[in-house]
Amino acid sequence: MELLNEIEKRRARRALSSQPLARDCLARLIKAATFAPSCFNNQPWRMIVLEKAAASPEYEAVAAALTPGNAWALAAPVLFVFATGSHLDCRLDDGRDYAYFDLGQAAMALQLQAVHEGLYAHPMAGFAPAKVRTAVHLPPELVPVCVIAVGAPGDAALLNEGQQKAEVSERNRKNVSEVAFMNSYGNGADFL
Ligand SMILES: Cc1cc2nc3c(=O)[nH]c(=O)nc-3n(C[C@H](O)[C@H](O)[C@H](O)COP(=O)(O)O)c2cc1C
Repeated sequence: MELLNEIEKRRARRALSSQPLARDCLARLIKAATFAPSCFNNQPWRMIVLEKAAASPEYEAVAAALTPGNAWALAAPVLFVFATGSHLDCRLDDGRDYAYFDLGQAAMALQLQAVHEGLYAHPMAGFAPAKVRTAVHLPPELVPVCVIAVGAPGDAALLNEGQQKAEVSERNRKNVSEVAFMNSYGNGADFL
């Protein structure tokens, strides 16, 4: 079954080269994220770009906030902090809040653009949020939801054994019949 190339090729890979990314490439990644749809066009995404080569106090503090399991991301030339707050997007009376949903759409758009640029983009929840918040001077009403490491493919030999295995693993997904239904929840369809 043929899918859009960028969707097919995207994987959360960890072997990243530290080679810096051109500023125009960074601009395209950000632009792609901002082209995502959002409720009432509220555009609740807030993105902070941190370049490794700059070795800014902000970059160093975000890098230090990653969990040990995410040490591979220290090779990435760029880290993006993706943040939002519920007040930035639709909050419906019945409890539906759309900020996180729309932030995710922006993050996916950035990831697909990264694939298009020949890069890996790997989202992470594994970081100390309070440290990231302080590092990038995030206002208290915003939540640092995700850090995305982006870089060109690098040397997998620098990864630990488990990560090296994951690097060449097949995509692992639930069966479509567990997550997609026809007409009624739980109702399968022979074409799915
Ligand atoms: C919100 C989110 C948080 C994630 N956090 C981490 C993380 O902290 N460390 C990590 O190595 N991978 C992380 N991942 C990557 C997932 O493990 C990966 O996307 C998943 O296993 C599916 O693999 P694939 O993206 O290659 O298809 C995260 C992905 C998402 C979307």
